[in-house]
This record gives sequence, C-alpha cells and structure tokens, in this order.
Amino acid sequence: MKSKVPTALPWVPEKRNVPALQQAARNCRGCDLWKRGTQTVFGEGASGARVMLVGEQPGDKEDLAGRPFVGPAGGLLDRALEAAGIERRSVYVTNAVKHFKWEPRGKRRIHKKPSQIEINACRPWLDAEIEAVRPQVIVCMGATAAQAMLGKSFRVTQQRGQMLPWGTGASIMATVHPSSILRAPDDESRHREMERFIDDLRNVASALRRRKAA
Ligand code: URA
Repeated sequence: MKSKVPTALPWVPEKRNVPALQQAARNCRGCDLWKRGTQTVFGEGASGARVMLVGEQPGDKEDLAGRPFVGPAGGLLDRALEAAGIERRSVYVTNAVKHFKWEPRGKRRIHKKPSQIEINACRPWLDAEIEAVRPQVIVCMGATAAQAMLGKSFRVTQQRGQMLPWGTGASIMATVHPSSILRAPDDESRHREMERFIDDLRNVASALRRRKAA
C-alpha cells in the first residue's frame, strides 16, 4: 500500500556513500517536487569533508546545472568562505530540499518556499548525507535548513551562531542564508550582513581547529 505521508525513504539506498546517494536521488519521487524541477540537485563535496553546509533548496541556476550553490547565492558563499579561510572544495554543500520549487512569473521561474511536508519528505536524504560524509560541523544556512535540522521552534534570529551538539558527535550551527545578504536593501547593510556571515564562518573554522587540537 502506498504511504500517505510523502517521504524519500524508499529511494534512499542501504549503501551510504556520496556517489551511491547521488545516483539513487536522481530517481527520487518521494514528494511531488520532482515534477517541477529539471533534475534532482544533490549535495556535493568530499566524502570526508569536515564541514557540511545546508541551504534551503536549489535555485533556478542550480536546477539547470544540477549542482548546488552555483548561482548568485553560491558566488556570495564562495567569497564568504574564502574570507573566513575555509576552502570551498574542503566542504560538502547541500540543501534541505533537493528539487527546485518554483512558480512562473512571466518568463521567469520564481523561487517558492518548500512546505513542511516537502522538507520532511526530503529529510532522509539529509540524514543519509550526514551519515556518509560524517562532518564535524554542520552549518544550517537560513530558517528552512535550521528548522529542518533543529525543529520548527528554532529561530535563527535568536540562536544564530550558537554551536550546538549533534547526535553523531558533530556540532551544528545556524546562520543566515546567503540570499538574504543579496536581498539587503542597500550597500551598507549588505556589507554589514556579509561581515556577520563571515564572522559566523570564522567561528566554524575555529571550532574545527579546536577539534583538531583536542
Ligand atoms: N539557495 C539554496 O538554498 N541552495 C542553492 O543551492 C542555491 C540557492
């Protein structure tokens, strides 16, 4: 009998390594978002990456490229990582939801926030990625990622930057989504928000150093 609650679980393979997960996720029909998206945009990065960055869902560019954070938000993320002394190729980057949810506006495809049901449906992929990558620090970027990982009552505005324990022995921290910095109303606030974001990532780099030293 078909389960009424949408979930990716039946598509998640036993074998928990990144290439196997990426391959299996291509055919995921765990919720209806696959019908709208061009393709599954799975996480990518080194299997042994010490940091996992979690965004919300792929955007227009990511949907077409099939890779996470390759559009404007990804460009900003690259600059912030560099400023914080974290190499992008040393991190694993993924999203809470693996398909682009959008609605048409004229010729453009406009991002539409995923529902709680879609976020929950996709969660088994996130758990499998954490199991495969075994990051030491998980960074949730934005409320969708933070609430997907830490629960609906989590508030990025209040708990931003706090290093919390995660079940696998990792630490987990939430910060803003890079897109929110791009949307800042003027240059001054954009600059200020970028500096705060970089500071959060610097704290991630420090946490990694502390773990190495311990
Ligand atoms: N925003 C996200 O949350 N993820 C992406 O991959 C791109 C933009």
